[in-house]
Amino acid sequence: MITVVGSVNLDLVASGAPLPHPGETVTGARLARYPGGKGANQALAAARLGQSVRLIAAVGNDDMAEEALKLLRAGGVDLSATHFLNGETTGVALIAVSPEGENLIVVCPGANNALAPSDIDGEAIEHMIGVLEVPVPTLLAAARRATGFVALNLAPALPVPPELLAEADLLVVNETEATAYGDSLRAPGRYVAISLGSDGAQLWKGGTRIASAKPPKIHVVDTVGAGDTFCAALTTALIEGMDDASALKFAVAAGAAACTRPGAQPGLPTRADVEALLKA
Ligand code: RIB
Repeated sequence: MITVVGSVNLDLVASGAPLPHPGETVTGARLARYPGGKGANQALAAARLGQSVRLIAAVGNDDMAEEALKLLRAGGVDLSATHFLNGETTGVALIAVSPEGENLIVVCPGANNALAPSDIDGEAIEHMIGVLEVPVPTLLAAARRATGFVALNLAPALPVPPELLAEADLLVVNETEATAYGDSLRAPGRYVAISLGSDGAQLWKGGTRIASAKPPKIHVVDTVGAGDTFCAALTTALIEGMDDASALKFAVAAGAAACTRPGAQPGLPTRADVEALLKA
C-alpha cells in the first residue's frame, strides 16, 4: 500500500489563450474546473496504475472539497485520513494553459497548509509519496513512520531540511528544481530522478547516472499533472521490483500519456494506457 501525504486542490483552468506576461491581460480563454493538487494527482495516478493507495491530506469544510475529491473517490483511493477542516478553504490552483500545452500555475494552498504532524499520529505507513505542497514537518513525521520505500517529489522547490532528504529512497525533481537543490540531492544509495519535459528523464543513484529515457511521440494537449504522473509511476515501478531502466521508461511513458488529455486528474493514464504506449 502506498500512502500519499500531499495536497488536494481544485484546479481552475483557463486554456486556449497565450500565456500572459507580468502586467499583461489576455482574453479568449475557455474555463474548466478539474480536481487537482500534486498529492491528489499522484494518489490517483498510482491507483490507476494498479496500486492500493491512501491519501493523508486536508481540505476545507466547503463546497469545493467534494468536487476536488470526486475522482479520487471514483478511483478507489482511501480517503479515511483526509481531513475536512472548519475555518479553512479547500486549496485552489489558478492555471493558464497555452494553445501549445504549456502552463502557468498559482496555488492558493488553504487547508493544505494546515495538515499537521499530529494528523500523522497513529498512522501505519508502508510505502510513501510526499509532496512539498503540505508542511515539511508533516512530511518528516510521515517519512519517519514509513516502513517501506519513501519517495519525495520536491515540488514546488522550497528549502528542505537535510533530515527530510535523509529519509528518502527516491527524490523526484524537474530540471529547475534540480538546479535549485544542487548537490544536496546526492547521497549514497539514494535514487534521484530528474524529469526533463519533452526530453524525457534521467535516473541517478549516489551521484552516478544509471538510466535515461526518451518519451514516446505524442500530441501534447496539456502538461498539467505530467510530473505528478511521472513520480507516481516511477515509485510504483520501483516498488514492484522493475529494473531501473525499465522503471524509468515506464514512468516517462506514463508522464507522456498524461499530456494527451486536458486536466490533471481526468488525463491520468491507466496501466493499460501506459502499456499500449510502450508497445506502440
Ligand atoms: O502538478 C500539477 C498540480 O499542481 C495541479 O493539479 C495544481 O493543483 C498544482 O498543485
